[in-house]
Amino acid sequence: MTHGETKVPATAFPSTKLNGEVKVPGDKSISHRSLLLGGIASGETRVSGLLESEDVLNTAKAMANLGATVSKDGDDWLIYGTGNGALLAPEAPLDFGNSGTGVRLAMGLIAPYDFEVKFIGDASLSSRPMGRILNPLREMGLQVFQHSDTENQLPLSIRASRHMAPITYHVPVPSAQVKSAVLLAGLNIPGTTTVIEPVMTRDHTERMLAGFGADISIETDADGARHISVVGQGELQGQNVTVPGDPSSASFAVVAGLIVPNSEISIKDILLNPSRIGLFTSLMEMGADLTISNERESGGELIGDITVRTSKLKGITVPASRAPSMIDEYPVLAVAASFAEGETIMLGLDELRVKECDRLTVTAVGLVQNGVNCEEGENSLTVRGSATVKGGGTIETHLDHRIAMSFLIMGLAAGNPVSVDDVSIINTSFPEFLGLMSDLGARIEA
Ligand code: S3P
Repeated sequence: MTHGETKVPATAFPSTKLNGEVKVPGDKSISHRSLLLGGIASGETRVSGLLESEDVLNTAKAMANLGATVSKDGDDWLIYGTGNGALLAPEAPLDFGNSGTGVRLAMGLIAPYDFEVKFIGDASLSSRPMGRILNPLREMGLQVFQHSDTENQLPLSIRASRHMAPITYHVPVPSAQVKSAVLLAGLNIPGTTTVIEPVMTRDHTERMLAGFGADISIETDADGARHISVVGQGELQGQNVTVPGDPSSASFAVVAGLIVPNSEISIKDILLNPSRIGLFTSLMEMGADLTISNERESGGELIGDITVRTSKLKGITVPASRAPSMIDEYPVLAVAASFAEGETIMLGLDELRVKECDRLTVTAVGLVQNGVNCEEGENSLTVRGSATVKGGGTIETHLDHRIAMSFLIMGLAAGNPVSVDDVSIINTSFPEFLGLMSDLGARIEA
């Protein structure tokens, strides 16, 4: 089914309390990378806790179409990779649905191959900018064939040129997807490809490349910029990967626990990589009763458990420097800020404009529809909160899973129910969302 064809509306009703201990599904970023790297590694990669959402399953299908063997063994996923440099030409276009991560990382991975691959996606993905990864890949020698009227948007095809060359690339926007696309292309090009990242973004690609045996090194210069270098055409060896709980998915239950009265929620085994937990830092600054316990290392990542209790929140300024570590969490932070006393100012939000929808505008419009006083700047959002939020809005989700989930969370604590026009899109990242919220005591009716 193409998203948007059959919308499934839903309404969240004010709830009296949320309680319980839950686990959220596996991290989306690590799940995509397990399949991509497992697919080009030699031998077996066994993944436990893979997120089985539409976005990730599209990446699994793409890797199978490129010659990897991808199957399930009980709850685990097994991937037998082709070996680095040995992907096969797919017989049909690769459909990445709603997933920017899937398509951008796959384009990087496939860029060095001397066969043509067509990439397609849903209406949201087809309106997102691909120039940010195609431009560095073109510098490496990639040929791009446009099938749309708009440059650098899907659908498009790519094919390596005869002489792909490594580059040193300064990432112009803080984007883990851009960084990763260039590094993954470098994996299969002779010589050393270097990405210079002035502002650190999530580092799962670097960590996992090292784990799979790639020749990768990272240095931080005097200005704090990270120089990440990968030597191409080395061998990657299949690994056992345990995917920790996705902190971005956990954030919806966390905020619900803070704003619904009389609540206490524990969420187990959450990824706590410092490049991902800006939301939790911000909520604690706002006065959230949020504790992290049982911190430990698993598969090269820090994980732990989070407990939240209903809290009186206050407004804060969230600095632009924190944006990369909570880039997917602004809609749900805006919901928390709506219930906080005083003003919350979120800075450095340029990248929100190019997510699954223009998340800055769509969040601001949704807040206003629910009676929240807010102001949308060019790259900032100011929310003037109040303990009582009117609610009553019906939100257009614009094929954006996080917009759908954020406003349903608002409806659990607002004075009136909040509706969204489509919950089917939530399946792209968090198919268990409605069931998990209902287990905690939330009333959300589709
Ligand atoms: C992701 C990177 C982020 C994030 C996305 C997942 C990744 O995008 O928004 O949900 O897995 O690399 P950008 O790197 O483009 O900011």
